[in-house]
Amino acid sequence: TEVTYLNYEVLSDRGWSLDDDDLFEKAAAADLDDADYGQFEVEGDRSLLEAAEDSGHAWPFACRGGACANCAVAVTDGELSQLVDHILPDELTDEGIRLSCNGKPLTDTLEVVYNLEQREDLADLKL
Ligand code: FES
Repeated sequence: TEVTYLNYEVLSDRGWSLDDDDLFEKAAAADLDDADYGQFEVEGDRSLLEAAEDSGHAWPFACRGGACANCAVAVTDGELSQLVDHILPDELTDEGIRLSCNGKPLTDTLEVVYNLEQREDLADLKL
């Protein structure tokens, strides 16, 4: 699976929103750092967080067990499984928010906004 990622901090810096239909087009055109925007592959049975780490990225996490929401991402295109989720309320999963520590891609391509722990409703959930 090829993952295209974008740092949530960029959204706040630039006044972009998760609801923007052209969010990833704008990101692609914005000459962002590799830490903030880019692509990597998820191989085999790796979780999204593990694959990000395999590719040299330091994404937020704490428990790695579906209980803290530090690792939350917004899936804007594609599907990410969720084997363990003890923390996210339905209104956030309905929005496409998933836990990268145990989420595995179910589609050939995936677009995610990571670093969602910065978002106020998620910061409130964190342990
Ligand atoms: Fe805690 Fe993923 S790292 S829920």
